Amino acid sequence: MSVELNHTIIHARDNRESAEFLAHILGLEVGTEWGPFIPVATSNGVTLDFAAIPAESIVMQHYAFLISDEEFEAAFARIQQAGITYYADPHLKQPGEVNHHHGGRGLYFMDPAGHGMEIITRPYGSHEQPPTAS
Ligand SMILES: [Fe+2]
Repeated sequence: MSVELNHTIIHARDNRESAEFLAHILGLEVGTEWGPFIPVATSNGVTLDFAAIPAESIVMQHYAFLISDEEFEAAFARIQQAGITYYADPHLKQPGEVNHHHGGRGLYFMDPAGHGMEIITRPYGSHEQPPTAS
């Protein structure tokens, strides 16, 4: 099977603001504007195309980024430097905390459009024991 996610559209109030926000936090590049889209490409070939739509039409989505320990340190520093509130949990009940799920570290923060962004250093389920045969 050769199916790969290639791109998706992320709605924003201001697509440049949102693209630059995420690129800054994750240490990525903002690409060249293409029609209504401002792209930010990730290292596994997925392009996030930020598109501006009326604020009242934005529905919150969730995007999670798997990054290395070093990238986590850098992203976390930029989040703190920018004064962005971060949380250990997706329900935003544990502000100022980082989680240690799956044998790594993770945190959540909101992007300018209100989407729930997550950075993790280990994929979900990567630290759990595989089910045993019975
Ligand atoms: Fe998640």
